[in-house]
Amino acid sequence: MLTYANVSAGYGGVPVLKDVSFSVAEGEAVAIFGHNGAGKTTMMRCAVGDVSEMTGAVSYRGEAIVPGAVFRNTRRGIGFVPQGHNVFRELSVRQNLTISGLHHPDSKVEDIYALFPILLERGNQAAGSLSGGQQQILALGMALMTKPSILLLDEPSTGLAPIIVRDVMASLTKVNKETGTTVVIVEQNIPATLAIVNRAIVVKAGRVVFDGASKELERKEDLWGWF
Ligand SMILES: Nc1ncnc2c1ncn2[C@@H]1O[C@H](COP(=O)(O)OP(=O)(O)OP(=O)(O)O)[C@@H](O)[C@H]1O
Ligand SMILES: [Mg+2]
Repeated sequence: MLTYANVSAGYGGVPVLKDVSFSVAEGEAVAIFGHNGAGKTTMMRCAVGDVSEMTGAVSYRGEAIVPGAVFRNTRRGIGFVPQGHNVFRELSVRQNLTISGLHHPDSKVEDIYALFPILLERGNQAAGSLSGGQQQILALGMALMTKPSILLLDEPSTGLAPIIVRDVMASLTKVNKETGTTVVIVEQNIPATLAIVNRAIVVKAGRVVFDGASKELERKEDLWGWF
């Protein structure tokens, strides 16, 4: 469904990704791990066409992702939850969800409430006054309002307490299993993430150094012990 073929990318002539190839199948839950600066965010940005210095190709459902046309690419069903809590702080939870679904008339705030009851409970609260974990769940709900077939999440558990991380991970499993949405997740929290994905990719200095079953990576601690 999402395929990277010999993708190299960088900024200002400085290479970051080097000949990255992998693909994600429909319905899969895949993790991307790697040290700080390895190129994980750059990989995600390539999937929505947000990196202009790119060679090779990223394709989604058989069609090329066009660099520079982020809006057009995301309209094709790619939901992207960037690093950090991306919510409109002054607006209520309900308003945040409604705005996110503006271009998708068939998406309903009630469906998101059914998936994440905490958002219904906090519906009228200003998003900026939600806890970090609640904001992360709202950001996830906002991405789901765009009716994605694939959801890309960049470090959704950053800064959250372990118990909240479990909530966020459980929500992702729910989205993956109940709605059939494909999930690609960049994370630093490897044990918590390995529990919810079936496959993992490890990036080191812009190259893929592991791509295989999460169970296999669990055994190869030498591959992830260094970050
Ligand atoms: N807009 C940019 N301009 C210049 N360099 C950039 C830009 N964005 C990222 N980089 C550089 O590209 C490299 C990879 O960055 P990227 O954000 O993809 O890493 P990452 O694996 O997501 O790291 P982290 O775990 O810290 O989020 C880093 O060296 C970073 O400084
Ligand atoms: Mg990053």
